[in-house]
Amino acid sequence: IQSLDLDQPLKGKKALVTAGPTYEAIDPVRFIGNYSSGKMGYAIANRLKQLGAQVTLITGPTALPIPQEIETISIQSAQQMYDASTSVFPTADIIVMSAAVADYTPIDISKEKIKKKSDTFSIQLKKTTDILAFLGQHKTSKQTLVGFALETNNELVHAKEKLIRKNLDFIVLNSMKDKGAGFGTDTNKVTIISKEDTIKNFQLKTKVEVANDICELILVHQKAVNP
Ligand code: CTP
Ligand code: CA
Repeated sequence: IQSLDLDQPLKGKKALVTAGPTYEAIDPVRFIGNYSSGKMGYAIANRLKQLGAQVTLITGPTALPIPQEIETISIQSAQQMYDASTSVFPTADIIVMSAAVADYTPIDISKEKIKKKSDTFSIQLKKTTDILAFLGQHKTSKQTLVGFALETNNELVHAKEKLIRKNLDFIVLNSMKDKGAGFGTDTNKVTIISKEDTIKNFQLKTKVEVANDICELILVHQKAVNP
């Protein structure tokens, strides 16, 4: 029993992980999406499971196999990700929002396929709800809330601003400057900033290794706030 406790320190805890892109429909055959592969989120979900947590993975469309033994909810749009996330959130001890959620979505979805006509064409978009910010507003002191930030300039300043504004415990800053980091790759180079402003710079490593680093910090945080 003792060795099980050591192997599975998150036994009895529930975790919510979001992963992948969202697809915002334009018409029956087209959407607005992004290049997120879902690899980072799936690696985190697998690691939390390994550590003993009961994991719910909410995923946008990806090419990855659905992880074994993990409850998975497949969604397409930002609104669907919001609905699924907010329904799982109240009972989750650990929440990791690694999905690349669309910031804007078409005001109207055309019922028919849009035909090409004029030389230029535009679509009116409206803001989506920031899921992470909403969860931050509703989180309790016993929950560990982790967000991601993708920045191309003033990275640390922007990431810290998001950490505070969204009331997070940790923000994982993805560097887009390094080769081998970011969308689609198997490796990532991250900086993790805590609410207490501890800044940890990690080397370029595989997404599985990055997931282990993130989950180690989550584990320490959960032990402190929710023993
Ligand atoms: N996020 C979210 N819901 C949204 C948009 C973003 O939950 N509608 C979450 C992402 O999952 C990520 C974090 O917010 O964990 C930061 O996403 P990012 O795109 O870097 O930041 P934004 O706040 O959307 O700001 P901007 O895109 O303008 O930099
Ligand atoms: Ca965004």
